[in-house]
Amino acid sequence: MTPFGIRKKLKALLGGGSKAPQKPAVPKYTVTFELPDGSTFEVSAKKGDSLVLASGRGASPIATGCADSTCGTCHVEVLAGAEMLSPEDDAERNTKAENKIPEANRLGCRTEVLGEGVRAKIVNVFGEEAYMP
Ligand code: FES
Repeated sequence: MTPFGIRKKLKALLGGGSKAPQKPAVPKYTVTFELPDGSTFEVSAKKGDSLVLASGRGASPIATGCADSTCGTCHVEVLAGAEMLSPEDDAERNTKAENKIPEANRLGCRTEVLGEGVRAKIVNVFGEEAYMP
């Protein structure tokens, strides 16, 4: 008997059975991104995904410039579904103020998708020259 066989036998004796516990399904939502040229693309985002992560599943991801939410490169204009995004925190407010980003915009790297109906305009597209106000 292999060590794996022993493990299975112990699991059966202890009542573990062969079925692994099921993880609860994470809800998924469709997010629509609009590009500066007016074209759009849709992606599927899991609840809690950042807008940057979600946009990375499409052809034109949001550009990023830092790993600590301080540069503001990833800011997006929320066109619809703002109530389906995570609330803004002090770090996001400070970064927007320091980089003169309009208050209505959100930082894609800090903003999480929490529901259906989000539509956001990407200001800086990955691979293109970044625009900062
Ligand atoms: S990538 Fe720098 S603030 Fe989001």
